Amino acid sequence: MKGFALKQVSMCLVGLMLINSCSQPNHKGLGPTGEHGMVVTAHPDASRIGLTILQHGGNAMDAAVAVEFALAVCYPAAGNIAGGGFWVLRTSGERVYTLDYREKAPMAATKDMYLGPDGEVVQGLSTQTILASGVPGTVDGMVRAHEKFGSLPWRDVVQPAVDMARKGFPLTKAQAADLNSIRKILLERNSWNPVFVRDSAWKEGDLLIQPDLANTLERIRDSKRDGFYSGQTADYIIGQMQESGGLITYKDLQDYQSVWREPITGYYRDYRFYSMAPPSSGGVALKQLLGIISKTDIKSLGYNSVKTIHYMVEAEKRVYADRAEYLGDPSFVNVPVAQLTNAKYLSKRAADIKPNVATPSDSVRAGTAAMRENLETTHYSIADRWGNAVAATTTLNGGFGCRIVVKGGGFFLNNEMDDFSSKPGSPNIYGLIGNEANAIAPGKRMLSCMTPTLVTKNDKMFMVVGSPGGSTIITSVFQTILNVIDHGMTMQEAVSAKRFHHQWLPDLIQYEPEAIDSLTVTRLTAMGHHLKKIGKIGRVDAILFWPDGKMEGGADPRGDDTARGF
Ligand code: GLY
Repeated sequence: MKGFALKQVSMCLVGLMLINSCSQPNHKGLGPTGEHGMVVTAHPDASRIGLTILQHGGNAMDAAVAVEFALAVCYPAAGNIAGGGFWVLRTSGERVYTLDYREKAPMAATKDMYLGPDGEVVQGLSTQTILASGVPGTVDGMVRAHEKFGSLPWRDVVQPAVDMARKGFPLTKAQAADLNSIRKILLERNSWNPVFVRDSAWKEGDLLIQPDLANTLERIRDSKRDGFYSGQTADYIIGQMQESGGLITYKDLQDYQSVWREPITGYYRDYRFYSMAPPSSGGVALKQLLGIISKTDIKSLGYNSVKTIHYMVEAEKRVYADRAEYLGDPSFVNVPVAQLTNAKYLSKRAADIKPNVATPSDSVRAGTAAMRENLETTHYSIADRWGNAVAATTTLNGGFGCRIVVKGGGFFLNNEMDDFSSKPGSPNIYGLIGNEANAIAPGKRMLSCMTPTLVTKNDKMFMVVGSPGGSTIITSVFQTILNVIDHGMTMQEAVSAKRFHHQWLPDLIQYEPEAIDSLTVTRLTAMGHHLKKIGKIGRVDAILFWPDGKMEGGADPRGDDTARGF
């Protein structure tokens, strides 16, 4: 991207002069603002690194690559080099691209690989063992994204992560607690003591130093793809597969390719949105939700009123039922995207929503499932002063993936295979049901909920948004967009606002404490809804573009998330 590079070198000094005027994070009514760039991620050190790249003349895509690698170091629960994800990006030339670097099933995977002799799913096989790991896509994705859009040298965007792994970073309080809580599991699943385990308990501020990961990142810095998919790192991965009984082969690693795809796009009121196409269900589901809800005047009904919640969850039931039936990897199954997102079809889906009575999920489609815990993934939003913007969501699936660390490599393996439907009708860790469209097949990508999304107004950037949270990703993004467009919230307010979620099965409105007041709970129950208070839902990191050109970062107070602008 030569054009990008020239423009940015001339702006570099301006960026450096502005370093001291960065606005600081705050989680109250207004997020930090910036005129020249904004980075919002799940960890303060990743946000700092992304901001530094922008301040040194890098574009949003350079910063996003640097953040992706930084998160692999300072946020090992979900940041990764052995996972996968999706980018939705818009260039200063106003074109939107999406990159699919989702993991793939190894070629030795089989449809029934998680079933026992009785034909039932063997609990834990698709989540807690090395058989849970798909072929990682992150490194290939970052190399491709940088080759197409980067303006700084590759080394310069990888080096900050190398340095942080080598010198260490201070654990946040939540991270220290997380590592202490998985200590026993890490010792059980690894034949050696990975750096994440130590004799005494971790405390806030302790430095986590990761020499093996630093060496791996150096190989990636020096040899790009070959630093991961072949040579020493591949030897470590295959060594781990042999030790723990995994399926990934050298050929699986060498054959991995990420894919540029067409975005899912549509309008909500005066706004145009762009999101991720299958193998993520995020874009299709978001388009369906916005299409169905556009028939309702959410603005007049008010934020989290009885009627607003009713209409939103009725839409959610119908959309998640479609997801289970139709969505999968488009290279393997015919996903009827056009039919599912067509205005006539969505009007039909909306038509049987009754204004005062809940539709039982069983009559939307049959089945039962239970929601489970442990929703990990991470999202970051980045924008620069030239009009480039990146919405990126990346994951190992569960927190710390399958919790097996590649010996010598220093990184966690994913447990993304659980996002396939192990058996039709059998729920995954998110309680999501799937069927044939998302059955396991060699080389196939597992269905995702990740919903990195860009919103524009009159062809100008309006919002960059996304969230982790498994099945709750789609509804978290949906609510954040409505919070801004219909309820007039600032970015920070929209991100901080309490959330609720319905995914068709189980037939439950799950909600955060304070999301729904007790009178509203009583009224919704009287309409036939079932409600359950749960912990946190989603962790949205987003950017709003104000009419004067300023960018407001919204970092989710549910985690250590941090917005940094300049
Ligand atoms: N692993 C979570 C998702 O891809 O939706």
